[in-house]
Amino acid sequence: MKHGHFFTFEGIDGCGKSTQLIRVAKALKAEGMNCLVTREPGGAVISEKIREILISPENAGMCSETELLLYLAARAQHVRTIIKPAVDDGKIVLCDRFEQATFAYQGHGRGLDLGLLRSVNNFATGGLSPDITFIFDIPVELSIARLAESGKGKDRIESESPQFFENVRKGYLEAAAANPEKIKLLDGSKELDKLTEEILGTIFNTFVNVIL
Ligand SMILES: Nc1ncnc2c1ncn2[C@@H]1O[C@H](COP(=O)(O)OP(=O)(O)O)[C@@H](O)[C@H]1O
Ligand SMILES: [Mg+2]
Repeated sequence: MKHGHFFTFEGIDGCGKSTQLIRVAKALKAEGMNCLVTREPGGAVISEKIREILISPENAGMCSETELLLYLAARAQHVRTIIKPAVDDGKIVLCDRFEQATFAYQGHGRGLDLGLLRSVNNFATGGLSPDITFIFDIPVELSIARLAESGKGKDRIESESPQFFENVRKGYLEAAAANPEKIKLLDGSKELDKLTEEILGTIFNTFVNVIL
């Protein structure tokens, strides 16, 4: 069986995940690589339906436990029907958010137990984890400013307090510090071109390590 690669892009809202994902996918495709871009929550038909429930501001009364299980239900479907088949087919999968968002948002943001989160996440993913996770770090004030500039309305999660996002940011920083081999911390306030170059450098390095 061929074996592809799986890279995930993480960080608080407005940190530049989607922007860099598109730039990186374009650059990889220009090199003739077979690349699949996807996102969480979502990426599969059933998972996109779950996404609607998760982000709808109408569901402001959602309990943390419900939220966790919906994210994981969406992930279980996404991994089995989209991500794993693509990786097994030799593709390079780029995913906008993945398991680190669970640890940062439901763990550090909502206060759910991290040990429990790791265990249920593992059940949802069936053990599939990214080759490398890129975390874009920006101050919460910059996140708020970028979101305000976009002029888009806030979804249920985006409507949380600045303190919530401070906790989430701290969670991401802790995760990166604890696992620097697998999690690359990037300064999301750097120039777009510089960041794209850094990400591509890391991705190409991963390919070289596989060949050697
Ligand atoms: N490195 C950067 N420098 C300046 N602006 C950026 C940078 N990265 C992203 N932006 C801008 O910030 C906004 C949010 O970026 P986006 O990629 O949508 O973030 P995310 O997907 O993480 O929420 C967009 O308007 C984007 O153009
Ligand atoms: Mg985005």
